[in-house]
Order: sequence, then structure tokens, then C-alpha cells
Amino acid sequence: MARSISFCCFFLFISSISKLTTSYPLSTKSRWILDEKGQRVKLACVNWPAHLLPAVAEGLSKQPLDSISKKIVSMRFNCVRLTWPLDLMTNDTLALNVTVKQSFESLKLFEDVAGIQTHNPKILNLPLLNAFQEVVSNLGQNGLMVILDNHLTTPGWCCSDNDLDAFFGYPNFDPAEWATGLKKMATLFRNATNVVGMSLRNEPRGTRDYPDLWFRFMPQGAEAVHAGNPKLLVIVSGIDYDTNLSFLRDRSINVSFTDKIVFELHWYSFTDGRGSWAKHNSNDFCVKIIEKVTRNGGFLLGRGLPLILSEFGTDESGADMSGNRYMNCLVAWAAENDLDWAVWALAGDYYLRTGDTNMVETYGVLDANWIDVRNTSFLQQLSGIQLPFRGPGLQSKNLLFHPLTGLCISNNPSANSPTLRLGPCAKSEPSTYNPKEGNLWINKMCVEAPNVVGQKVKLRVGTRCSKLGQISATKMHLSFKTSNGLLLCLDVDQRDNSIVANPCKCLTRDASCDPASQWFKVL
Ligand SMILES: *[C@@H]1O[C@H](CO)[C@@H](O)[C@H](O)[C@H]1NC(C)=O
Ligand SMILES: *[C@@H]1O[C@H](CO)[C@@H](O)[C@H](O)[C@H]1NC(C)=O
Ligand SMILES: *[C@@H]1O[C@H](CO)[C@@H](O)[C@H](O)[C@H]1NC(C)=O
Ligand SMILES: *[C@@H]1O[C@H](CO)[C@@H](O)[C@H](O)[C@H]1NC(C)=O
Ligand SMILES: *[C@@H]1O[C@H](CO)[C@@H](O)[C@H](O)[C@H]1NC(C)=O
Ligand SMILES: *[C@@H]1O[C@H](CO)[C@@H](O)[C@H](O)[C@H]1NC(C)=O
Repeated sequence: MARSISFCCFFLFISSISKLTTSYPLSTKSRWILDEKGQRVKLACVNWPAHLLPAVAEGLSKQPLDSISKKIVSMRFNCVRLTWPLDLMTNDTLALNVTVKQSFESLKLFEDVAGIQTHNPKILNLPLLNAFQEVVSNLGQNGLMVILDNHLTTPGWCCSDNDLDAFFGYPNFDPAEWATGLKKMATLFRNATNVVGMSLRNEPRGTRDYPDLWFRFMPQGAEAVHAGNPKLLVIVSGIDYDTNLSFLRDRSINVSFTDKIVFELHWYSFTDGRGSWAKHNSNDFCVKIIEKVTRNGGFLLGRGLPLILSEFGTDESGADMSGNRYMNCLVAWAAENDLDWAVWALAGDYYLRTGDTNMVETYGVLDANWIDVRNTSFLQQLSGIQLPFRGPGLQSKNLLFHPLTGLCISNNPSANSPTLRLGPCAKSEPSTYNPKEGNLWINKMCVEAPNVVGQKVKLRVGTRCSKLGQISATKMHLSFKTSNGLLLCLDVDQRDNSIVANPCKCLTRDASCDPASQWFKVL
């Protein structure tokens, strides 16, 4: 008896462990990225720039490498898209003969030399390539997956149309040299199991930005990575700053291997025209832009092809109204499609960007001190899309997601008369909304909407379930009529995150207001 008990518990122990750890390598099946056991792995990455002039991962003059890695883990990212310049593989003088110290000194960045001496003395006298390896290895020690992103050719800021390495065949972008560098990088990290993928080239662009050259050269880069390390995911960018993969609609990439190709797409608010989100009604514009993004790349998911949104993000100060509105729409779309993604960026600040020293990255999740979170509400919004909602090996549940906060609707358990409030999606009870009948159910109780503006929305076992309609172009407003004929929408009382009824906000046309507090995405 005792023996059989320990037998049973031994296996329970094993199976609970196996749920927590990802077994590498990763591969793809239909649109999903899977681990070795066939379980979905959702990449929720942060971009860590290491491609600028000093050719050293940013932030190391501010905090110890291990503290930064641990901070990434504590912010619940599971992976880093680490950028690198091709020269690190193709110019041995740069990679092997220039130390971190020499690189900073040659740029007159003496403060950073002192900072690295203080926080990361171990790397100060390492050649640049070895310092890069230290970063990858430390990320691995902290359980973080890494995507090595070849960002450009020569160290520096990226990207503009005039760059000499904007596209295949440009003066500073020799496709053969590029393929050689990719293969070398793939080979170098063959033994690092946490390096799960490589993205071939960031944001191809420029006047020769047409698909024929893409179809000619991207497979060469892909084969080079695969030859260097066949375990890696091979991540392929679209043209026009990685905003356009539409040419894959009627033509496919031709490579010799299967189950490893992932496409990547970038989407910023300025991709949609500078400031244009502020000039349009968010419901109307969100639908229009999502149509565009779907046409340009999102359609791949529907074709059973994996896609990672490998750059997005906005000024986190809240000052960019256009960016704020775009983020709410983007997060709703990312949740609906349960996308893999990488936010721009981890930094912080940059040692040196386009001539400015210590330039602050307003899009960064970390402050310029590289340890404090720049904006906790931005991070909370992202947290809503960090965990997978569905996919192979996962149990999916219906949820009502609030893109503005990254939270989900849940039952307020502390109240003696149950009401609705927002809470972490992972802990929320399933919410079922059927657009046809219009009732919203949580835990065998249905929503009874109040008749008075500002009142909390109740949950009842009773029979007076309210009929909620999805109005507005995004279908994200949940509205109902009160007994005296008033049209109200579910909304959030930001003081305590409770769900209340308010007059419906800016359903269409009006660009002066922001409807996002009333947006709920049915998942
Ligand atoms: C590195 O520096 C040493 C000594 O200065 C020199 O002999 C060697 O050729 C250099 N190697 C490369 C690849 O630049
Ligand atoms: C290689 O890197 C070194 C050190 O940064 C630089 O001086 C040299 O010009 C580079 N060589 C090429 C061919 O880019
Ligand atoms: C990888 O590990 C194998 C076996 O331990 C070793 O022979 C090889 O040199 C390692 N490769 C690299 C690039 O470190
Ligand atoms: C995307 O690229 C294709 C192929 O070059 C082109 O025909 C199309 O106009 C582009 N789409 C956009 C929105 O620029
Ligand atoms: C695909 O690539 C292989 C080898 O790289 C080549 O032999 C074949 O012709 C290509 N197929 C197409 C349709 O381009
Ligand atoms: C964080 O972002 C929100 C939303 O854009 C903004 O209202 C707020 O002021 C920002 N907070 C900080 C500390 O920048």
C-alpha cells in the first residue's frame, strides 16, 4: 500500500514538473510554436538592443547583467529578442580584437567604462564577441529563451531608407557574407539550448524592396541558419520595414526543411501614419487598421503559418495619444489571435544613439536606471497577453478580456452580493458570452445590468439575465437598454476596477474621445 502511494506520487511530481519546464528544441505545427513534447510555447519576448555603435548589450553600465536578466523574468517575459550586428560574425577584428573597454573608449564613452567596471567587471576586458556570449549565457541561466536577431550589418542605430544595408545587394549588404555570418552565429550557439531561434534580418526596406529578391535571398539565409544549427526556429521578416508579407499570399518560401519557419511582422502606431490614431475615431480606425495588418501579414495565421509580432510598442509616458489608442487596439488583436510577440524594448536608455549619449528609450519597459519599471500600467497591459489562451496541449477557457488594462472580467468574490470586476486573466473564472442570445455567464450566474448610470453590474442566479449587444465597429462595446430606454455600456470604474454601467462612449466618428475603457474582447 505504502509502496503504491509513493509510486503514484512520484508520477504526479514528474507530470507537474513537466508542465512547468519547456523542453527544447522548438518547432512549428500549423500556426503554433511547440516544445519537444508537442505543447504550445507562447513567445512573450522583450527586445534587448545590442546592435548599436559600442556593439555591447545596452544597460550593462547601469546594472549587473544577472540583475537585468532576473528583472526580465520578474516582468514575466519568457524570452529575449537580442539584436546583433552582422560584423560581429564577419569582422574578426571587431569581434575578437576589440574589448568592451576599448570599444567604449574609442567612442569616448568613459562614464560607461566606469559603469561597467562597477556593475559588470567580468566583461570589461572581454572581446566584444565574448561579452555577447556572456549575455546569452546569463539569459539561459535565468531560464530565458533567446532569439538572435540580425539587426543590421555595421553597429549603429537602425533603420532608414537611406541605409547602405537596407536591402539585399545594397553597398553594405552582401547576401553571401550575410549568409556566412548567419551560419557562424547559428553554429556558435549550437550548444546553448535556450537559443531557440534566429531572425534572419531586421526590417528589409528601401527602393529595391520588392518580393523577387526576397524570395531569392531569404531562403539562402534560412538554409545557412539551418545548416549551422538545425534545431533553431528560422524567423523571416517581411519587406517595407517588416510591415508587409502580403506576397506570401500566392507564393511560398522554398526551403529544404520543415517545421521551423516562423514569419515576423512589425507594427507601430506611426506605421499607420504619424499621429493618425488621434485624428480618427478609435472604433472605426481600429477595425480599418486591423484589416490592413491582417492583409499584410496576419492572414498567415489563418493559412496555418506561424507569425510573431516581433516589434511593437509606444511612448510609455502617456503623452502620445495616437500611441495609446493604437496599443489598446493592438492588444485586443494580439489577444484575439493569441499571438507570439516581442515588445520594443527592454532599454532603459542607449549608451550612444545617433550621436546622443545616454539617450532615454521612451518605449522601454525599464527606466533609464535599468531596474525600475517605466510604466506599471503599460506592463500590466502587456501581462494580459503574456500567457497563452489556447493551443496544442493547453486547456482553453472563454474569457472577456479588457485590452486597456490587460485584465479579464471576473466574479468579485469578496462582496456578499456578487458583482463583476477586473482581475488577472489566469485567475478569472470562465465567462461565456454568446452574441446571439446576448447573455453573459460566469460560474452559472448571469449578468444583470443596473438601471442607473454608474452602478455596479451584478451577477445573479436568477432569470433576469440582461441582453447585451456588441455595438460599434470593433464589437468591443457591450451595451444594453435600461428599463427606461437608456443605452448604456459596460465600463470600468478605475478607482476599484469594478464593472459599472455608463453611457456608451465615442462609438463612431468622434475622434476627440477614447472608448477603450469600454472595450471588452470576447475570447
Ligand atoms: C588582433 O590583434 C593582434 C595583436 O595586435 C594582431 O596580431 C592580430 O592580427 C589581430 N587579429 C585580427 C583578426 O584582427
Ligand atoms: C572591422 O572592425 C574594426 C574594429 O572596429 C574596424 O576598424 C574595421 O574597419 C572593420 N573592418 C571592416 C572591413 O569593416
Ligand atoms: C558543443 O559541445 C560539443 C560536445 O560537448 C563540443 O565538442 C563542441 O565543441 C561544442 N561546440 C561549441 C560551439 O561550443
Ligand atoms: C506589399 O508588398 C506588395 C508586393 O511588393 C505590394 O504589391 C503591396 O502594395 C504592398 N502593400 C502595401 C500596403 O504597401
Ligand atoms: C526549391 O529549392 C530547391 C533547392 O534549393 C530547388 O532545387 C528547387 O528548384 C526550388 N523550387 C522552387 C519551386 O523554386
Ligand atoms: C503610463 O501610461 C499611462 C497610459 O498611457 C499614462 O496615463 C500614465 O501617465 C503613464 N505613467 C507614467 C508614470 O508614465
